[in-house]
Amino acid sequence: MKNQNPNDLFVPTYTRSAPAIVKGDGSRLQDSSGRKYLDFCSGIAVNALGHNHPALQKALERQGKKLLHASNLYFMQPQIDLAHLLIKQSFADRVFFCNSGTEAIEAAIKFARKWAGLQSDKKINILSFGDAFHGRTYGALSATPQAKFHAGFGPLMKGFYAAPLNDFAKTEKQLARREYAAIIIEPIQGESGINEAREDFLHFLREYATDSRTVLIFDEIQCGVGRTGTLWHYEQHGVIPDMMTLAKPLGGGLPLGAVLTTDEIAACISPGDHGTTFGGNPLACALGGEVIKVVSKRSFLKNVCDRGTYLTGKLQELAARRSRLVEVVGDGLMVGVRVKDDPAPIIKKCMSKGLMLIKGGNNTIRFMPPLIITQREIDKAIAIFAASI
Ligand SMILES: Cc1ncc(COP(=O)(O)O)c(C=O)c1O
Repeated sequence: MKNQNPNDLFVPTYTRSAPAIVKGDGSRLQDSSGRKYLDFCSGIAVNALGHNHPALQKALERQGKKLLHASNLYFMQPQIDLAHLLIKQSFADRVFFCNSGTEAIEAAIKFARKWAGLQSDKKINILSFGDAFHGRTYGALSATPQAKFHAGFGPLMKGFYAAPLNDFAKTEKQLARREYAAIIIEPIQGESGINEAREDFLHFLREYATDSRTVLIFDEIQCGVGRTGTLWHYEQHGVIPDMMTLAKPLGGGLPLGAVLTTDEIAACISPGDHGTTFGGNPLACALGGEVIKVVSKRSFLKNVCDRGTYLTGKLQELAARRSRLVEVVGDGLMVGVRVKDDPAPIIKKCMSKGLMLIKGGNNTIRFMPPLIITQREIDKAIAIFAASI
């Protein structure tokens, strides 16, 4: 029993290799054999403050002794505190808490349909963009226009359409064909390999959404919370959404998602329309408060920008010398290296040398370290990466 392959224990939704990761500190992780890794994955953009951060440890202890769950039938102080912070730091007037990214997307779709439905019963459709990734539950999956995620799981939900990212003409065509409740976009696509929405494209969507009273939803589940050097990525483009979905780094490693929106949209929702038993768990919200307080500091965000520029520069230097590397893309510490062929063998080799990286799409290697990464750690990662190409 002891030596059983852990792969035989789980439904095989992931390809994982032993040994198990057992602890972490800062930007480093350790497996059960004692091997250490430089973590440029951050739990897929979750561990913004790295591992074992003192502010999170203190919050865990403080809140852990007080309350782990009451119910969303009651107020819980860490939820109130985090909602205050998120509202103060963003465009939003109201927050809905849930447990994950996909749940935030489901809630956003429901809220948008309810709000738009009050204008017209034809305003039910949702537009998303090619190669987007919004999650794995049926609403979020239906808004993820990628055949590889749909295969075997049909039928998907009705009313979901897609246009190619940054393609004005095709998007206009789709918008003209029917009435939409919402347009949902990742300002920078993460899972499909760091594809940025153009600023003029975001402005174009904003204009259309305002004119047609359609909800513009930014999915900042991967690119939000400081990852690109501003607290929210939308700040960089001067385009303000009507709704923003958050998750991944928000709970500091505990499951926490959120939908941020306006008073006007929130006003269409009545008690009982939507809900969740665990969403906005007080322990997760206590950690979330620490994450937002640390990340929103100007000096912290400047550091993300500086480290991002340094990492990108080093990767560009390398790409200029190695023909297998095509280009370096991204923003802040959400960086991708496009490669000529399948990046999986390079990622595997890096892992064997103690560097964790993630694949994005078919041809991209994502570098998404904790936002506390140091220049020395970046140098070390670059050396391992260079030796693995
Ligand atoms: C942009 C984006 N939206 C939604 C999701 C889904 O989040 P979760 O895995 O927490 O359900 C992800 C996950 O990778 C994501 O990157």
